[in-house]
Amino acid sequence: MIVKNAELETVCGITSKLPENGQIEVAFAGKSNVGKSSLINGLMNRKSLARTSSAPGKTQTINFYAVTGRRETKKEAQGMVSADEKVYLVDLPGYGYAKVSQNEKQKWGKMIEDYLHKSSQLKAVFLLIDIRHDPSANDKQMYDWVLHNGFSPIIIATKLDKIKRSQVQKQVKAIKQGLQVEKGTLVIPFSAETKQGREEIWSVIEGFLDA
Ligand code: GTP
Ligand code: MG
Repeated sequence: MIVKNAELETVCGITSKLPENGQIEVAFAGKSNVGKSSLINGLMNRKSLARTSSAPGKTQTINFYAVTGRRETKKEAQGMVSADEKVYLVDLPGYGYAKVSQNEKQKWGKMIEDYLHKSSQLKAVFLLIDIRHDPSANDKQMYDWVLHNGFSPIIIATKLDKIKRSQVQKQVKAIKQGLQVEKGTLVIPFSAETKQGREEIWSVIEGFLDA
């Protein structure tokens, strides 16, 4: 996707009503600090539209980023212009953030649950796992739960720049095993530093725009 415009359109807290968007949504879930907001910035080609932090627990609301752009197609190379398309990238609060009270955790959990249940425009859920670590019990729970809600989670192994290239396949395998993913599940390594993996993630999103 050649991104033309990106903006934060809706912010939902625990008491907000979820938006009824006219275009499809894809959501990014994962443990606190795994790199959800950084990935969304990477996809949008924006440095800091989605706020990030080295301290976990930065994103505490469901944030809907409206992205407009057009695809790089063969037609384009031939001088024909493809139409603009719009998609919502949805940044979810991270789970497993220890400093938040149990009560708060439950409220966030409920908010995310509500969103995954109720949004009619949500077409895909990406689950982010730090490529350096085996999935936690929380990650496995999230994976199963997303699956249970009728989505086949697409896994993004984040912080790819933090490991040696020779370790990548081994870690991808460990993630697949740790989550006990369904056959055929995509695991896409991504780095917000180098943007490696960006095109592959966009092509998956474009697949949902076509569906
Ligand atoms: P919460 O909003 O707290 O749930 O976290 P998040 O998942 O949105 O993570 P965020 O994008 O804020 O990133 C957390 C930290 O990891 C920040 O310091 C980022 O700079 C860093 N980070 C994210 N992605 C990468 C990456 O691909 N490579 C490296 N080296 N650092 C990254
Ligand atoms: Mg965040």
